[in-house]
Amino acid sequence: MIKLQNVTRLCQTKSIVTVNGQFPGPRIITREGDRLLIKVVNHVPNNITLHWHGVKQLRSGWADGPAYITQCPIQTGQSYTYNFTVTGQRGTLFWHAHISWLRATVYGPIVILPKKGVPYPFPQPDKEVPIVFGEWWKADTETIINQATQTGGAPNISDAYTINGLPGPTYNCSAKDTFKLKVKPGKTYLLRLINAALNDELFFGIANHTLTVVEADAVYVKPFKTHIVLITPGQTTNVLLKAKSKAPTTNFIIAARPYATGPAAFDNTTTTGILEYMNPSVSTIKLPLLKPSLPQFNDTAFAMKFSQKIRSLANSKFPANIPQTVDRHFFFTVGIGVLPCSRNQTCQGPNNTRLAAAINNVSFVQPNTALLQAHFFNQSQGVYTNDFPANPTFKFNYTGTPPNNTNVKTGTKVAVMAFNTTVELVMQDTSIVSAESHPLHLHGFNFFVVGQGFGNFDPNNDPPKFNLVDPAERNTIGVPSGGWVAIRFRADNPGVWFMHCHLEVHTSWGLKMAWLVMDGKRRNQKLPPPPSDLPKC
Ligand code: C2O
Repeated sequence: MIKLQNVTRLCQTKSIVTVNGQFPGPRIITREGDRLLIKVVNHVPNNITLHWHGVKQLRSGWADGPAYITQCPIQTGQSYTYNFTVTGQRGTLFWHAHISWLRATVYGPIVILPKKGVPYPFPQPDKEVPIVFGEWWKADTETIINQATQTGGAPNISDAYTINGLPGPTYNCSAKDTFKLKVKPGKTYLLRLINAALNDELFFGIANHTLTVVEADAVYVKPFKTHIVLITPGQTTNVLLKAKSKAPTTNFIIAARPYATGPAAFDNTTTTGILEYMNPSVSTIKLPLLKPSLPQFNDTAFAMKFSQKIRSLANSKFPANIPQTVDRHFFFTVGIGVLPCSRNQTCQGPNNTRLAAAINNVSFVQPNTALLQAHFFNQSQGVYTNDFPANPTFKFNYTGTPPNNTNVKTGTKVAVMAFNTTVELVMQDTSIVSAESHPLHLHGFNFFVVGQGFGNFDPNNDPPKFNLVDPAERNTIGVPSGGWVAIRFRADNPGVWFMHCHLEVHTSWGLKMAWLVMDGKRRNQKLPPPPSDLPKC
């Protein structure tokens, strides 16, 4: 049930949109192969939808959830039952509201356990703990984005980061709202890290402890050790934490703070929690506690190195199904640009423009009805056009000095693909307003990260270096600041699939597009008709 709930953080109480009155929202614990039926009843004044981030939704696009893409919103007093099966996936994902900025408070973990009797391909943990990062605004987040989109400027930054909804003692008035991870000496903990923050990539670490990364975006990876994890909004990362064998006489700080590129202001605060050893012999904790040392805010070199360390297991039990040949090549520029200000308006962007964001210079305009419905019922006219450009509409030195006329164009365009097309997509960051890292998220599929680098993508020299053996398989990847990333996927899931920057501010500015995957010939290659309770616009 979607309902309002008063929640107090940073000494202020505000009424927020929640699921069942919980903040963060309830955990969904399920098993690979399970079918989920989730009835959502809307008891708030806002329209809402929920999205099951990273669930592939094989032939169940009606349950995917992005507003105006796969469904019309669930209006006040209405309900909708999301009905889908978790096929071929196990690990950590999350769910969140997928309309405007409601996911600021409407999110929670999804834990998909392996099938009964199937062990993890790493040491069995003694305990599993979801750790969800978020952002907290004292003001109403919906108002913040509405103001920003009206004035064309950047929205206000958040007032705090949170761990499982708790900001921790670095913020005023917040010491009692501190996340505590209690561990026993010698035990192993599986931390299911989820970045549900709206606008910031985060560095995460625990003082004096090494973490072993074992999974990213619900796909097992070759384990590697690290002190710091970088996690973008939309990404999930499982790490093993081995507690020290002898209980130390102090506790340790758990901390997360942003990795930020670009010139815009960002919330540069740090959220902290405490790793506490259950140690009956120690009654008082020595202060100060040890802090983890996290990289500089703009440490793009670290970000790139960390991202490149993630490799799929690619073994016989968990084979990587990487398309070895490519039917269609796409090259997308992703970045921030500007739109002319409409008449009689004072805009806050550079030189009285509106900030906009675009893919191949197209800033996506949200339609008034859901794309998937329009497609399924052959009513695309006036809703969307099929001409999303496969390549940039004009070429320039993407990571150098931008040309003068960089106004973006607006439109609701989709890229159409035949069923089972193998796709290679290169996403190139542009420096039109500034070089900036963009965590791109694809609905409906996992993709393989076959290459990434700095500078302009080189179509002659980069592809021969692609990793077609054990690339990371994921649903969200940071397009490096001043660089590019190449992904491959097989379009074997009929429907309309959203792809967007998971920084909510960039999504709001238009850094989004949709893929339309046609039905295949066989019956089990077609999108079934919508459920009868699918909301209407
Ligand atoms: Cu996490 Cu389009 O979503």
